[in-house]
Amino acid sequence: MDEPMTAKGNRRVVAVDGPAGAGKGAVCRAAAARFGLAYLETGALYRAVGLLSLRAGIGDPDALAAAAGEMPFAFRPVQDGEYAAFLGDEEVTLALRAEEVGQAASRVAALPGVRRALLGFQRRYGAGRDAILDGRDVGSVVWPDADLKIFLTASLEARAKRRALELQARGETVILHDLIARMQERDQRDAERDHAPMCAAPGAILVDTSSLTLAQSRERVNNLIATLFA
Ligand code: DC
Repeated sequence: MDEPMTAKGNRRVVAVDGPAGAGKGAVCRAAAARFGLAYLETGALYRAVGLLSLRAGIGDPDALAAAAGEMPFAFRPVQDGEYAAFLGDEEVTLALRAEEVGQAASRVAALPGVRRALLGFQRRYGAGRDAILDGRDVGSVVWPDADLKIFLTASLEARAKRRALELQARGETVILHDLIARMQERDQRDAERDHAPMCAAPGAILVDTSSLTLAQSRERVNNLIATLFA
C-alpha cells in the first residue's frame, strides 16, 4: 500500500543521516531536548521488522512488507523525557538494540515493500510539531523537503570503538575486529542497496565526529539547528 506523502506544512524538520555508530541517537536526543522537537529514531522501525523476522522466521519479502505495515509499533514516553519502544503491549527497547537485530534490520531494510510500509509512520510522526529524525534516507526520501539536513559520520574505527564501549557497558564481551567487520558489512549493505541507499542528501551538511567528543558533536549539531530557531 502506497502511503500518500504527508504535507510538511509549516513544521520545521531536521534530517540527520549517517552510518551506524556515528552518534546520531545521542546527538538527536540532545537536540530534541534543547529545542523541544519530536524525535524519531527511524532505525527502530527497521529493527522492529528485523526482530519480527527473526522471531517468526519470516523471509518472504511480501510477508515482511505486510508485517511492517501491520506491526503495532509505538514509542511511549517513560520518564525524564525518555521514550520506550513497544510492539503491542511488549516493551522491546532493549531487544531492538541487540547486534543480530541490527543485522536483520539492515537486511529487511533493503526490501522496497518494507520501506514503503514504514514511510507513512515516519512522515506522520510528531504531526504538527517541529521534529528531528535520524536514519539513512531521511534527507533523501522521507523528508526531501527538510529544513536542515545533516550527514553525521565518523571513521569506521572511531565508530566501532564507541559501539564497543556501549556494548561493554551493558556487560557484553566484544571482539573489536569482529565488530569492525560486522559494522563494515552493514554499512556496505545500507549504502549499496538499490532502494533508498544511505547517502548524504543534496544540500546536507557533513559533520565528521571522528575526532570530536560526544559533547563537541552535540554542540556542533545544536549550533547548526540553532540557525533554524533564531
Ligand atoms: O540506525 P540503526 O543502526 O538503528 O538502523 C538499523 C538498520 O536499519 C540499518 O542498518 C539500516 C536500516 N535503516 C534504514 O535502512 N533506513 C533508515 N532510515 C534507518 C535505518
